[in-house]
Amino acid sequence: MSHASPFPDNAGANSVLQDDVLRGQWFVVAQSGDVPLGQAVARRLLGGDVVLWRDGGRIHAWQDLCIHRGAKLSLGKVRDGCMVCPYHAWVYDGDGKCIHIPAQPDRTPPLRARANVFHVRERYGLIWVCIAQPSGDVPAFPLAEDTSCRMFLCGPYSFEAKGPRLIENFLDVGHLAIVHAGLLGDAEHEAIPEYEVEEGLAHGVGPVARNIRIHQPDPDGTGRAAEVTYDYQVHAPLVASFIKSQGDNKLFMGYTITPTEEGFSEAWAVFAMNYGFEIPEQDLRAFQQTVVMQDKAVVESQRPELLPLDLQEELHLRSDRMAIAYRKWLRATGLKYGVA
Ligand code: FES
Ligand SMILES: [Fe+2]
Repeated sequence: MSHASPFPDNAGANSVLQDDVLRGQWFVVAQSGDVPLGQAVARRLLGGDVVLWRDGGRIHAWQDLCIHRGAKLSLGKVRDGCMVCPYHAWVYDGDGKCIHIPAQPDRTPPLRARANVFHVRERYGLIWVCIAQPSGDVPAFPLAEDTSCRMFLCGPYSFEAKGPRLIENFLDVGHLAIVHAGLLGDAEHEAIPEYEVEEGLAHGVGPVARNIRIHQPDPDGTGRAAEVTYDYQVHAPLVASFIKSQGDNKLFMGYTITPTEEGFSEAWAVFAMNYGFEIPEQDLRAFQQTVVMQDKAVVESQRPELLPLDLQEELHLRSDRMAIAYRKWLRATGLKYGVA
């Protein structure tokens, strides 16, 4: 079943917006610091325009379109806790209701004069938006809220690729020793040991993989080789995370993909570490940048661009069983975007 798009101008037949599953998901569109008080910020999400702004501390995410003549609200002004359209200065309050029309100052604005208001949350220093009824909460990343950890954000990283291939790449352990040779693996340790996978639930959490042991020459950018253990979890069709452990040292990475346009994505990452407090954040971020750029070349080359959910397509190894579980689970969720 398909619903009317909240972005009516962009509801072309091939638009990512046509996907009902996607429209119920939370997507990161900015870091909290990208939207200062008093400023309107324009973003692209699912092929449509979004405006972000704050009144007081409260964040708002609306369709970036004035109902009067379709001007972009993000070109307007934030004034006295309201959004003012750049064209004829209609004034919208924090609930999206038009409360003043300068051309007819004595008339109460019609009820239909409203902005299209989206669900929005701020969590982990990121702004998450859902353009329809959310199918769940913003993904839970407990370590990112654990005060004994240092937390930092990376991204957005731009990809000319769709979300499912990007998440599968994140879950793929077989490529670490090849694509990230010298960092996350090396030629002497290419074999992937047995590991456990728990299948995802159709209307609940995605698959989990546990206890994947890998030798890494440089697991975290410190240059100190270690045997690490990965535990992966899929939280939502385009959100996954891992905890990489070296004994009691834990490095958490939450990875979330935002489809911006048909065929284009932005990836955001949340990191939390309970060690390495002395490492400058810019070094940690530079390390991630290197790793992501190594992935980018390969993932953007993958054809078909749509992740095949028919397991007869492509070839699968035992070491790919997390990817297999992800494909099966995506099929169960009913996602149509980015898959075939
Ligand atoms: S287009 Fe926004 S007030 Fe006219
Ligand atoms: Fe990678």
